[in-house]
Amino acid sequence: AVMVGRSVRRRRGWRRVVRVLEELEEGCATTVGRLRQVVDAMAVEMHAGLASEGGSKLKMLLTYVHDLPTGNEKGIYYALDLGGTNFRVLRVKLGGQRCIIEHDVDLQPIPQHLMTSSSVELFDFIATSLKDFVEREENISEPSQRERRELGFTFSFPVKQTSSSSGTLMKWTKGFSIEDAVGRDVSQCLQEALSRKGLDMQVTVLINDTVGTLALGHYHDEDTVAAVIIGTGTNACYLERADAIIKCQGLLTTSAGMVINMEWGNFWSSHLPRTPYDAELDADSPNPNDQGFEKMISGMYLGDIVRRVILRMSQESDVFGPVSSKLHEPFILRTPMVAAMHEDDSSNLNEVAQILKDTLEIPDVPLNVRKLVVKVCDVVTRRAARLAAAGIVGILKKIGRDGNSGMTGGKTKGGSRIKMRRTVVAVEGGLYANYTMFREYLNEAMRQILGEDVAPYVILNVTNDGSGIGAALLAASHSASTITENT
Ligand code: GLC
Repeated sequence: AVMVGRSVRRRRGWRRVVRVLEELEEGCATTVGRLRQVVDAMAVEMHAGLASEGGSKLKMLLTYVHDLPTGNEKGIYYALDLGGTNFRVLRVKLGGQRCIIEHDVDLQPIPQHLMTSSSVELFDFIATSLKDFVEREENISEPSQRERRELGFTFSFPVKQTSSSSGTLMKWTKGFSIEDAVGRDVSQCLQEALSRKGLDMQVTVLINDTVGTLALGHYHDEDTVAAVIIGTGTNACYLERADAIIKCQGLLTTSAGMVINMEWGNFWSSHLPRTPYDAELDADSPNPNDQGFEKMISGMYLGDIVRRVILRMSQESDVFGPVSSKLHEPFILRTPMVAAMHEDDSSNLNEVAQILKDTLEIPDVPLNVRKLVVKVCDVVTRRAARLAAAGIVGILKKIGRDGNSGMTGGKTKGGSRIKMRRTVVAVEGGLYANYTMFREYLNEAMRQILGEDVAPYVILNVTNDGSGIGAALLAASHSASTITENT
């Protein structure tokens, strides 16, 4: 009788878990119809954000970057890249003719305590690392030819730019929270820290990582019109026409276009497929009601959504054994582990079992439960990838490159075929670059939304280290003393 009782209970447990999975799948549904609504909403919000300050949750920030590097830049430039899991300093030697002769990088994780310290502590740490790096580099290679070293500073948070080299921090994202930095000019904070440390260096440009990626993408391929980051956080920027930036009409002294930092992580629409897990994650975050799109897509959060689903399954049933206390620990399940479980191709799903055991302290579970975990990873990742695809098509729609916008349409119009222009989007970040399933889902959704006629004209190009190298390129193209080669 005991045996029967247990197996009935287990079966009931299994049924409940399957129900949780089904609800998750329903909640995360991204039919092509739904994605098209997200595309439209993105384009509408872009218009609203460009029309007036505060007109949309999409901030559509001005960057004052009007020109992207041409390829003719020459000389040695430094770059500093702050904003993800790691912090990097670079030295880039540009040879003209689209040639990056060499670049050296020093990468280090940002000490956790600095993410919530004071701005002086953070910037002193950065300045010290930069100084050590410069001294090491200049010992082993030729010193910079110019009077003063020049630096491109990539600061990947929402910044209200006051020029291409200065701007104030609007708010923190991605788990950073240093209150006294909000509202300050981050370029000046860095410049002051550099003088405190006695490093003679000029902050020539202050940019977002998406802008660096666009610069590098464009350096290699002139058809690059937008850039997307899908890493710890997610965001996009693109080149906008001057007359479309209504909110700064009259302020612009040039008729050239401008790169707009969308801060799309903060995009929101009622068409987004939101689940109770998303709502809980948001409520527990340091920035509730902000970065809603980012919280469904980026690497910082995917693992935590998966953790929340497994926790719920474990509470609803006994298929995972007693509820592990680790399941209550926020962010314990990192996105690379989700990727590893999702892409486990061993027949017994050994990798899944290992991660469950090592990270979540869930002892050996049978194969069907391991499969269930893989399925959860799949549902959460697929939704993220498909939403990112819809975001990209939203940009294309806004700039008339989605094949549906009048003259540039790739479809038959009045019987004659109109030529579609080749359109390149630079993409960077661990999710797209290193997580194959994510990339495949994103690419598939792009094809589904754009259709087979248009999709071949849209190329997603992975750049490497655009947020760093791009900053050096922009420092070069914005440098007063730039030596360019006329080709
Ligand atoms: C966050 C930041 C944004 C950055 C993105 C990718 O969304 O707010 O500025 O571009 O992460 O790093």
